[in-house]
Formats: sequence, C-alpha cells, structure tokens
Amino acid sequence: MKIFLDTANLKSIRKFNDMGLLDGITTNPSLMFKEGGNPKDAMEEITKVIKGDVSLEVVSTEYSGMMEEGKRLRQYGDNVVVKVPMTPDGLKACKSFSSEGIPVNVTLIFSANQALLAAKAGAKYVSPFIGRLDDIGQDGMKLIHEIKDIFSNYNFGTQILVASVRHPVHVVDAAKIGADVVTLPPAVLDKMLLHPLTKIGLDNFLTDWDKLKSVNPDIKI
Ligand code: E4P
Repeated sequence: MKIFLDTANLKSIRKFNDMGLLDGITTNPSLMFKEGGNPKDAMEEITKVIKGDVSLEVVSTEYSGMMEEGKRLRQYGDNVVVKVPMTPDGLKACKSFSSEGIPVNVTLIFSANQALLAAKAGAKYVSPFIGRLDDIGQDGMKLIHEIKDIFSNYNFGTQILVASVRHPVHVVDAAKIGADVVTLPPAVLDKMLLHPLTKIGLDNFLTDWDKLKSVNPDIKI
C-alpha cells in the first residue's frame, strides 16, 4: 500500500520523506489555507521535494475553468495529479485530462456509485473520505470494501486513495482490504511510528549498556 501525506506543510513533508516513507502528497485548498503564505511557493517546493504523485486541487467549479487551472497546475511538474471535485463538470474535466494523458484524482467521494463513475471517467485515483462519513454516523471503511469489490469485479485501473483518515486503525483496516493508497495527516503517521514497548525496550537496553560501561569504561560499539 502506498502512503501519501495529506498536507501542504513542508517541514512535515521533508521529515517523513527523509525516512523514505512517502510515495506522494495530497493537498486541498483548506490545507493550503492552514499553512498560510502564497500557495504557489508551497506547490513549487512540494513538487520539487517529492518524486511521486502530488495532488493539487482546482478551485473552479465549471469545466473550462477546471481545464485552465489544471493545465496551470501541471506546470509545477510532471508528477502533478490534477484534483477535481466529484461533480458533473469535474467528471467532464477528468475525462478530458485523462484523454490527454494527465492523471486525475477525483475528490470528495462519499458513495460507491460516485467512485464507479469517476473510474468510468478515467480517474487515476478516487478519494473516498472515510473520516467524514464516520463523523456523520456512517461506516467509512464499508465504503472502501464496496469500492474495492466493484473495481476488482471489472478490473478498473483506478486506484483507491483512502482519504480523511483520522487514526492508525483506519490505516490497518484499509491495508487489510487492499486499498492502493492511504493519505495521512502528519499526526496519524507520527502515531503509527510509536509504541510504548519500543520506548521501554530501548530505555532498558541503554541502561544495561551504561551498566556494562561502568565496569568496562573502554568498550565501544
Ligand atoms: C484528501 O485528499 C483530503 O485532502 C483529506 O483527506 C480530507 O480530510 P479531512 O476530512 O480530514 O479534511
């Protein structure tokens, strides 16, 4: 399963990229707003630092505006995936971009039918927002199961990009289903790294090493 980071924060992107964990990045206008500054600078830097796919989102709501914005966004790099909303105009733009060989991420997917239509329109990725479904009392992970079944039944090449991830259990569940990608807020990736027994174990090893050194001061690894 590929791991994308769901952020426009360069410090976090560099931190996890240096650990070799990142296959790509997803952003959206809210994430850009959260970082402040000029989003152009962020888009330029992110597309340079990350070799994998970087989703940059259009803000036009009608077809021709989406096409213009998508083409401008692609100037940041060949790794830019144009992110369009799951609307009739978004699907039309998805079809046009895909026909030109430009990869598209269809975002704001909340039903299996929406995912099916986005795949038919040629999307490289569909982004089902599982956390937002959980928030309204629905089962976000059930949607991932359904999309996985449908895409497998018909051998769609479209990848399932699990979005709106809230905690590490979402990641394990998505991996068990066989989702292609999860996009994670930095805080979730931080939590996945840690386990209290790892810390306790390491503290014990270092304490015992200090004890060994106190009787053999010259030893070194
Ligand atoms: C995905 O591409 C979106 O940017 C993101 O996952 C939305 O998550 P949220 O529901 O936490 O805003």
